[in-house]
Amino acid sequence: MKLETKRLILRPLRMSDAKDIVENGNNLNISRWLLVVPYPYTLKDARSWIKHNQEKWKKKKKEDYTFGIEIKEERRIIGGGGLHHVNGHSAEIGYWIGEKYHNKGYGSEMLNALINFAFKRLKLSRLEAGVFAGNPSSGRLLEKYGFEKEGYKRQARVCKADGKVKDEILYGLLKKEYRR
Ligand SMILES: CC(C)(COP(=O)(O)OP(=O)(O)OC[C@H]1O[C@@H](n2cnc3c(N)ncnc32)[C@H](O)[C@@H]1OP(=O)(O)O)[C@@H](O)C(=O)NCCC(=O)NCCS
Repeated sequence: MKLETKRLILRPLRMSDAKDIVENGNNLNISRWLLVVPYPYTLKDARSWIKHNQEKWKKKKKEDYTFGIEIKEERRIIGGGGLHHVNGHSAEIGYWIGEKYHNKGYGSEMLNALINFAFKRLKLSRLEAGVFAGNPSSGRLLEKYGFEKEGYKRQARVCKADGKVKDEILYGLLKKEYRR
């Protein structure tokens, strides 16, 4: 299964993507905003993440759709994004993109593709996302597509990369509110 945008292909990860994932993911400026990504991030970490996702893709009843984000121009993976805890009604959305590719609109393209996939193909009605307080761009990106702030959880999460306890802002989007 793959999703295509103007400049990106969202597709299941292959073992051969491990090197590109390390190159983009082994960066505290990325992983400090993610819940369970270790830092430093090694080839072993990337391979076990890929294997884990490959197993999830094989499941008949899918609760998780994690895609690698491939940039068409370079034919390499620059990040990851997906839907988690999919239950027929709602799902949680998560994503990251390598720092050198930030602020070029790739995040927007990727998010638009994931939202379309969730609402049109999977026929979900609600999406949610948790963003650590202080994240410079993720909330902005979600709001651009109509996500609403629904809550603020104090000291809600322990970030694996830096071990710090973080506040989490909860965002939600209903299908009928989605702004393309
Ligand atoms: C969130 C992330 C995927 C955005 O990727 P991106 O490719 O830079 O996104 P875009 O280029 O489409 O930019 C999205 C918006 O954020 C804004 N933005 C980006 N960096 C910003 C910054 N440092 N400060 C303020 N706004 C910023 C952009 O201006 C853009 O808004 P606009 O379209 O109104 O101009 C990327 O920053 C990332 O991977 N961050 C680390 C991991 C992460 O935070 N994941 C999400 C966890 S909830």
